[in-house]
Amino acid sequence: MPVGWGVMKQGKLLTGGLASLARELRGDEWRGTRYTILVDENSFNHCLPQLVAGVDALESAEFIEVPTGEECKSLEVAAQVWQTLIEGGADRSHALVCLGGGAVCDLGGFVAAGYMRGIRHLLVPSTLLAMTDAAIGGKTAIDFGGVKNSVGHFYPPVATVIESAFCASLDARQLACGEMEMVKTAAVCDPGLYDRLLRCGTPGHGEIVEVARLKRRIVAADPHDTDVRHILNLGHTFGHAIELHHGLEHGLAVGAGMLVAMYLSVRKCGLPVDVYNTYLQWVGGKMELPRHSLRDIEAMLPLMHHDKKNHDGSLRCVLLRGIGEAMIDVNVDDNEVRDAMLNASKPTPLN
Ligand SMILES: NC(=O)c1ccc[n+]([C@@H]2O[C@H](COP(=O)([O-])OP(=O)(O)OC[C@H]3O[C@@H](n4cnc5c(N)ncnc54)[C@H](O)[C@@H]3O)[C@@H](O)[C@H]2O)c1
Ligand SMILES: [Zn+2]
Repeated sequence: MPVGWGVMKQGKLLTGGLASLARELRGDEWRGTRYTILVDENSFNHCLPQLVAGVDALESAEFIEVPTGEECKSLEVAAQVWQTLIEGGADRSHALVCLGGGAVCDLGGFVAAGYMRGIRHLLVPSTLLAMTDAAIGGKTAIDFGGVKNSVGHFYPPVATVIESAFCASLDARQLACGEMEMVKTAAVCDPGLYDRLLRCGTPGHGEIVEVARLKRRIVAADPHDTDVRHILNLGHTFGHAIELHHGLEHGLAVGAGMLVAMYLSVRKCGLPVDVYNTYLQWVGGKMELPRHSLRDIEAMLPLMHHDKKNHDGSLRCVLLRGIGEAMIDVNVDDNEVRDAMLNASKPTPLN
């Protein structure tokens, strides 16, 4: 951790939906605050009406609409939001309410961290992935220089609000993206929750809150992502390559990447084979698993090595000894990756 960094406080987790945000904003520390709500087209259409109707303090808030999804995570869009705030006379007492998926939350945190050296912001995630992952943990980011999330801060919101009713307008793929990351978070440290998520069909408010709390516990142990927080990268070395090569959404690619990690975990770390088979059945029911030809794998290997290269040229991956028992920095060589990518998605990998 760089010298001088204090322990990062994560802000509150308001689990009672918009009603809990309404209560929070009636508190003395918010008296006289002006708010700007950041939205994209979908959160504007599907969520903004409920937010302003349900939270009296936001009734007359201004809003700024940014491009939808990942498009908004750019320096140009951040600069436009800063410009609008300046023109509207926003000072250091202003607060930014980020209503949207992980992209709007990442951008909003970035904008808040920079404006007037830091103004307060609230995250109101509107996708399952953002409720359980992106809006938890204090990271902000924009994409810069052609590299995703290359510029950002650790700048936690004053509060993250879980309003699970916003999931109603998500389609099946968007829901599956969130479910993959939820299952990942449970897989690395909570066997009971992992089992429940695999059995529950579509997660409800209870599961969403449980995963959000679990991620907060992991973040609390390593706020600046220097060691144990790395367990949250389960499936991501393979997932990132699958995302880029096959053009899959991040969450789905991570779901497929976790299968590769589980296969390797059976081979190298003693993960029981029935754990792999149970996951295979679950993930196969949620998405069409990508097939990787040898040519695909050769194209993906450099993508995996790009950020995870070890001194000896092997990859360092998060694998599992069991559900709830993650191992960080396990060396995996290219032949093991080839075997896993070719064969993961077949039952019983040891046959
Ligand atoms: N900061 C972190 O720790 C962290 C962690 C994980 C992911 N992320 C970031 O989060 C982003 C991914 O988040 P995401 O999956 O939410 O993607 P997203 O924000 O791009 O949202 C996905 C799509 O859903 C739409 N949408 C949002 N709410 C909706 C609603 N209620 N109904 C219908 N449509 C809705 C969005 O407009 C978008 O088109 C990435 O940029 C990723 O880098 C950040
Ligand atoms: Zn992820």
